[in-house]
Amino acid sequence: MCAQYCGSVDEKLLEQTVTINGWIHRRRDHGGVIFLDMRDREGLLQVVIDPDTPEAFATADSARPEYILKITGRVRTRYAGTENAHMKSGKVELLAKHIEVLAKSETPPFPLNDDFTNVSEELRLKYRFLDMRRPEMFARMKFRAQATSVIRRYLDEHGFFDVETPILTKATPEGARDYLVPSRTKPGNFFALPQSPQLFKQLLMVAGFDRYYQIAKCFRDEDLRADRQPEFTQIDIETSFIDDEEIMNLSEGLTRDLFQQMLDVTLPDFPRMTYADAMRDYGSDKPDLRVPMKLIDVADLMQTVDFKVFSAPAKDPKGRVAALNVPGGASLSRKQIDAYTQFVGIYGAKGLAYIKVNDLSKGIEGLQSPIVKFIEPIVMELVERVGAKDGDCVFFGADKARVVNDAMGAFRIKVGHELGLASSGWAPLWVVDFPMFEETDTGSLTSVHHPFTLPKGDIEQIKASPETALSVAYDMVLNGTEVGGGSLRINNLEMQKQVFGILGIDEEEANDKFSFLLDALKYGAPPHGGLAFGLDRLIMLMTGASSIRDVIAFPKTKTAECPLTDAPAPAPANQLRDLGIRIKEKPVKDQPAA
Ligand code: AMO
Ligand code: AMP
Repeated sequence: MCAQYCGSVDEKLLEQTVTINGWIHRRRDHGGVIFLDMRDREGLLQVVIDPDTPEAFATADSARPEYILKITGRVRTRYAGTENAHMKSGKVELLAKHIEVLAKSETPPFPLNDDFTNVSEELRLKYRFLDMRRPEMFARMKFRAQATSVIRRYLDEHGFFDVETPILTKATPEGARDYLVPSRTKPGNFFALPQSPQLFKQLLMVAGFDRYYQIAKCFRDEDLRADRQPEFTQIDIETSFIDDEEIMNLSEGLTRDLFQQMLDVTLPDFPRMTYADAMRDYGSDKPDLRVPMKLIDVADLMQTVDFKVFSAPAKDPKGRVAALNVPGGASLSRKQIDAYTQFVGIYGAKGLAYIKVNDLSKGIEGLQSPIVKFIEPIVMELVERVGAKDGDCVFFGADKARVVNDAMGAFRIKVGHELGLASSGWAPLWVVDFPMFEETDTGSLTSVHHPFTLPKGDIEQIKASPETALSVAYDMVLNGTEVGGGSLRINNLEMQKQVFGILGIDEEEANDKFSFLLDALKYGAPPHGGLAFGLDRLIMLMTGASSIRDVIAFPKTKTAECPLTDAPAPAPANQLRDLGIRIKEKPVKDQPAA
């Protein structure tokens, strides 16, 4: 009989002689008997080594955690009361007859069994090949592999072709910095790694592949967070001849199928919410709908008060004054509110005014707050508008709209989860009707999605007031994370030129950067559109991981480095010479010998 996986030995093999290969996960000595928990990709198996088999016993006795053993023995039932319901092999054990050491191991730098706690991520990443042996990590990687296969099957069954696009290419504008690769054959010139396959997938539509997908690597040099990596994976999709509704339905179908097959979860309906409503009610374009509270505008009331902190932003056309009623919030301590005030400070908020509602029947006397005295004339109307009840606490943000949205939006989620006000389960939605353009810090316009997105409405109107123009773009949001985004594209050369014009990209720059796309639009480009999911983010949410680093085999740190390989590293002098590159500043690490 060929070898069995440790984790799949069960009652079906009772009384049979089997062989397993695995790593020693844990070892216990009990009254002259040795117990080894052997581990492989399928899980754990308890092996018992009796002194009656002296050779096997001596080998087991000298073996240490993480040694690889090949063990042959007889499968038997465990003693009553020692079964482990959490393991597939939990009702049986292997009574060893013969043990061979296939490989020894040094003591690992951190325990890989239940003793694993508080190990720094840096150390885990340096020894990622050990970290991934841990059943928790292994299970996530296995889940990812199976989920990817479900996704491929869905797209294959829906008539999509998998087409690969280049990694060494020209810049694709998705809003981040590019990673550049110097060319040896054309010194002084650089490839850019793709921020997404966006332009190539559009060219594939022009080429007639009306349903394309790719599990694609994307590269973006941007500030990293728990849900952002410099190198990440998209499920990239593009279609021709179908509209935004159909693309959203297809993407929703894919997501539903994935959750059903992988988690046995039937996702609830995906409500549609406009970008404007999302910003107004949640201060965010990726609202976490598990938290029910909404922001409520109170600028009209605050315009009338003498308190400048509120009245100035209330009168400013770019300002916002928003209230958030937190049910049960009156029980928050001073210390907790101070901590929340610090938290909103991260987003630029200058404070977090609040009113505790102790007893509404007493009118103003029943309110407790440092600011009531400043807003007395309107305070009861305010409390009524936000629907506050006894025991609640109303919080306020007043500033430029962007600061209020960022700060109060993040506070809403944090306080909602911390006070147990969030529902459990899955809260998906589509955010639609994104603005086409937004203002940069320097006052110029940039694309909210990317410059190839189709605007809504008439181009003359859009040119007249670009700041109010909307695009045919949509984001899929799940539990407060943007898991995917896409749009219909411009398939008309004239329109594409006009949009470049609004973005301040002149003809020379457009030709320099995108002449191939502009050319393609001259030769029968079908109406097309698509979407890309962040695969890492989907897997992070589905496995309950707290960072996408935990669902990527070899991720980068927050400073975009790899502790395992020590990349990035200085290049040898001869390579730099070949590339025609001279380093002006001393590299961080010492230059290796050429
Ligand atoms: P977008 O830039 O919105 O769209 O990216 C699509 C999805 O990719 C994921 N994502 C990331 N995941 C991890 N780390 C990152 N740094 C990162 N950046 C983005 C997100 C996001 O929703 N070409 C367009 C798609 C299209 O229009 O079809 C694009 O790339 O989950
Ligand atoms: P101050 O007058 O600065 O002592 O602020 C009085 C209260 O208003 C405190 O609770 C502050 O946290 C709060 N506060 C100050 N500035 C803002 C702001 N921009 N938005 C919301 N609350 C604020």
